[in-house]
Amino acid sequence: MTVGIDKIGFFTSNYYLDMTDLANARGEDPNKYLIGIGQQQQAVIPPTQDVVTMAANAAEKILTESDKHDIDMVIFGTETGIDNSKSAAIYVQSLLGISSRARSFEIKQACYGGTAGVQMAADHIAMHPESKVLVLAADIARYGIGTPGEVTQGGGAIAMLLSANPSILALDNQSTFHSENIMDFWRPFYKREAIVDGHYSTNIYIDFFNQTFKDYCQKYHRNLNDFAAIAYHLPFTKMGLKALRTVITEDAHSQQLLKEFDASKRYNALVGNLYTGSLYLSLLSLLANSTDLKAGDRIGLFSYGSGAQGEFYSGTISDGMHADKMADEFESVIADRVRLSVSEYEKMYADGLPTTGGDVTFDSANDPSRFIVLGRQADQLV
Ligand code: CAA
Repeated sequence: MTVGIDKIGFFTSNYYLDMTDLANARGEDPNKYLIGIGQQQQAVIPPTQDVVTMAANAAEKILTESDKHDIDMVIFGTETGIDNSKSAAIYVQSLLGISSRARSFEIKQACYGGTAGVQMAADHIAMHPESKVLVLAADIARYGIGTPGEVTQGGGAIAMLLSANPSILALDNQSTFHSENIMDFWRPFYKREAIVDGHYSTNIYIDFFNQTFKDYCQKYHRNLNDFAAIAYHLPFTKMGLKALRTVITEDAHSQQLLKEFDASKRYNALVGNLYTGSLYLSLLSLLANSTDLKAGDRIGLFSYGSGAQGEFYSGTISDGMHADKMADEFESVIADRVRLSVSEYEKMYADGLPTTGGDVTFDSANDPSRFIVLGRQADQLV
């Protein structure tokens, strides 16, 4: 029996900002954003969406009625939760009609929360092979208008169904982790935007990648040649490239890894940072866009959550993986997005959700999603 990712669903906002428009408005050379940072577009999340509705919209695309019956655990990784007490998982479970005979809870460690969910799900299924686990990873990345982090904003949700004998990626049950108390990026209760030491955070990311990758190779007697591709947490796409460059050489295999990296960054460059979901959007992008990957190939995955936790693990592509289907599903989410001007984006950014009750004034008729926020109270979600 293998255990791993059987289905992946994705959702993001219907609105986006073009990075050339943003560069021009901020007095920067567009190539700094397009090449130096590696982002082309950025999802802008309207007040009609929060992590609960985005995750419900992502999960609805992949779950059958039979899945909803079989799921016995719903794990929600996020660092943009809507409640300090009640988990976002319970809302999604109810919105989608998932069996009430499930454990549902939220976990947090910055962008690492999705991976914590995947690993917990895999352990649970290994013990209970009949189980299915829904892992949700949704966030809204906000740094502030005119800040250096602004170009690395974004948002959206990934929903993954994990099961025995999965159709997409069978996990190897081989992983190495590293954690340290580090203040590179955090968001205390009184802030809506992250506090970040940007350059420091990129250095820590690379240190953690090098540490966990080295440990993985030593522990499992592997080297770079054992991987057909490596997928990274991508806060911005250049970040993964910087990390990959620390381990490759000039040889043909390294050139192939760079080619696969190009496939893995394509979707992230159009959506921006999803925090907990970014690694898994990159995995989706890799599988949907690679022209060379095939069943049985091993993929490395590097997860990083500021504060800080890193993990390197691996899996092999399953026979049932359908690249074209994954590509079609992604295209269907972003095909009809509305391009905002910079001033429209700034207004939407400022609107946000009211902090004390009351209905959102935003015109929800423009949001075509199945689940939207109508008011601040979660029981007003439809
Ligand atoms: N053409 C091409 N490239 C150009 C250019 C031009 N005209 N002008 C500048 N560049 C290049 C620079 O050379 C630089 O490239 P390298 O990094 O390869 O040297 C790149 O563009 C960026 O330039 P700067 O370093 O000057 O950019 P900056 O200081 O304005 O900000 C940032 C960059 C620090 C990443 C900032 O966007 C930020 O703070 N982002 C948020 C923090 C973040 O995402 N950290 C990632 C690690 S933490 C994590 O992963 C968790 C998470 O999700 C947040």
